[in-house]
Amino acid sequence: MEPFRPDLLAGKTTLITGGGTGLGRSMALRLAGLGARVAVVGRRPEPLQEVADRVRAAGGRAAATPCDVRDPEAVEAALSRVEDELGPLNQLVNNAAGNFLCASEDLSPNAFDSVVRIVLYGSVYCTLALGRRLIQRKQKGEILSIATTYAETGSAFVLPSATAKAGVLAMTRSLAVEWAAYGIRLNAVAPGPFPTEGAFSRLMTGELEEQARRRIPSRRFGEHEELTNLVAFLMSDASPYLTGDLVTIDGAEALFSGQEFAGLAHLDRTHAKGLMAALKPKKR
Ligand code: HXC
Ligand code: NAP
Repeated sequence: MEPFRPDLLAGKTTLITGGGTGLGRSMALRLAGLGARVAVVGRRPEPLQEVADRVRAAGGRAAATPCDVRDPEAVEAALSRVEDELGPLNQLVNNAAGNFLCASEDLSPNAFDSVVRIVLYGSVYCTLALGRRLIQRKQKGEILSIATTYAETGSAFVLPSATAKAGVLAMTRSLAVEWAAYGIRLNAVAPGPFPTEGAFSRLMTGELEEQARRRIPSRRFGEHEELTNLVAFLMSDASPYLTGDLVTIDGAEALFSGQEFAGLAHLDRTHAKGLMAALKPKKR
């Protein structure tokens, strides 16, 4: 069942970084399906073009332009090209990312930089580029960053990503306050595992994937539509008072991981109740 009005995002023109693949692609298609004009940027032109072609084939408006978000001049140029094609942008999704598993003592300086420059610097460059334009035009807008649940806790073996995502969260919370006066909302979402080629090929071996599934109380990964529905709501005028927040969408994986007795939830409930009953003192 479609939960939203078909024109929920009419009047929104949204730049999605990393919009050619994975979750960025799913968000681009969903937001366009709800009436937004969408622009997708990334380094490789082919996936971007495929997304734009799909949006146009469905009757929407889309632009695709290659851009490396690590380069602030390239970001400015991409925004200008997109605005020439689609009109003024009023939304941004900071979704582009890099990540890999590596013991931190084995990271080269370039390995650390390669992730931090995409995730943290790229998000800052895109956010400041759009923010300046919105402020100068006295236009309100929405900026959403795709974080991770470990942005708040840190995580072993993904040090560059963890530090960069924490920085993106700090940016979100700082600017939500600083730019509220301009009518610019900033939020972040923290997805648990959502299968994509980009993430799962780099982060999930079969064994790790099974471990991850066991941390999720419902024992299933997220579906893209579940994330894109949340994103549509956050980017819409249905959430005008929601800013500066980190919204977690992980099937309670992060809570499960931190709860001492959460493992009981994975046992057959009758068995779990039996174990607990056995611990209950007998009435005298
Ligand atoms: C150790 C590594 C490495 C690895 C690369 N490097 N991969 N070091 N382990 N697995 C090192 C290289 O040796 C090099 O250092 C430096 O990193 C740069 O590598 P390049 O390949 O030249 O970088 P570049 O072409 O810029 O590619 C960036 C990248 C790549 C991050 C390394 O993986 C990429 O393009 N990723 C984009 C897509 C992506 O990662 N998607 C997943 C997001 S998922 P030296 O010193 O040798 O020069 C995500 C989900 C999190 O974030 C939560 C899940 C639940
Ligand atoms: P993905 O498909 O690999 O997405 C990453 C995108 O970033 C790619 O389209 C990539 O395109 C783009 N990109 C990388 N470097 C770039 C650069 N320098 N400039 C511009 N674009 C660049 O992986 P995903 O799983 O969909 O991840 C999307 C977002 O969700 C990321 O922020 C990730 O951290 C977050 N996330 C994912 C999961 C998950 O389980 N999937 C969980 C939590 C958070 P090019 O290579 O063509 O540039």
